[in-house]
Amino acid sequence: MPNRDENKRAVLRYYDRTESRLGYLYLLRGTKHFGWYEAGDSGWRFSPAMRRMERQLGQRLGLEADSRVLDAGCGMGDVARTLAADFGLDITGIDILDFNLVEARRRSERAGLANRTRFIECDYHDLSRFEDGEFDGVYTMETFVHAADAERALAEFHRVLRPGGRLVMFEYSRTPNECLLPAARAAFDAVCELGAMPAWHRLNHGDLENLLESASFKVESVEDVTARMLPMLRLFAVLGRFPYALARRLGKTEKAVNAMSGVEMWKHQEAWRYNIYTATERT
Ligand SMILES: C[S@@+](CC[C@H](N)C(=O)[O-])C[C@H]1O[C@@H](n2cnc3c(N)ncnc32)[C@H](O)[C@@H]1O
Repeated sequence: MPNRDENKRAVLRYYDRTESRLGYLYLLRGTKHFGWYEAGDSGWRFSPAMRRMERQLGQRLGLEADSRVLDAGCGMGDVARTLAADFGLDITGIDILDFNLVEARRRSERAGLANRTRFIECDYHDLSRFEDGEFDGVYTMETFVHAADAERALAEFHRVLRPGGRLVMFEYSRTPNECLLPAARAAFDAVCELGAMPAWHRLNHGDLENLLESASFKVESVEDVTARMLPMLRLFAVLGRFPYALARRLGKTEKAVNAMSGVEMWKHQEAWRYNIYTATERT
């Protein structure tokens, strides 16, 4: 497990790579999460699928309009804006990457949502700038995989939630090493290492539920929704095939981390799941 400072540097390195910046910007317009696809949807229709995924999150939060919600790892704030616009929530987004926050503020101004969304530089392992019980809800959208200290982050989420508040996490889990063939294990290790995702590397199926219970949350549901995001992953695998092959040939895999992840995650679907965890703070 890296220490928190090393981990922060690794996360910054990953998102600051040319491949990450261009890939997220040009393919996903800066949003950094998978889409929710219904049967028959074209995998190319990224934006509607991503907005649908965000609304799935809003539905699971199930909070009244004006509820105060923490977005832990907000990126450019697209999830926050959907929840503010479609569910009337009041969102505080935090992230450790300054360039995400600058863009998040700009987009909220432009969308007329600056009064319902604010974006602050803050590490979700240390929420000391927030009061105990300050939020009615907390969520993570594909960010907890980066946690260097999962227990510490969950303890902070618990502290800043009001009694009875809701936590929703759209996160991955993994198949234990001993159940994977060597090729899948090696691919999974490389994806987690180069993508700065120590928590994903560590959290086997079932582990996050146990950590949540240990952190005094009551887990209400865990849904495996992998099938919903596979059309997008399939496209990433197709688009990533050539750059990944080229990078391997040149011995520069670290220059094509997203291409590698798309190809290898698609190929080794037995190694991971995409889940939605819904929990409440035990009172
Ligand atoms: C895959 S992106 C998801 C961004 C956003 N939730 C979205 O769906 O567009 C993960 C985000 O988590 C942020 N992140 C990683 N570790 C963090 C930490 N310790 N505290 C706050 N944000 C973090 C990264 O900077 C990145 O913006």
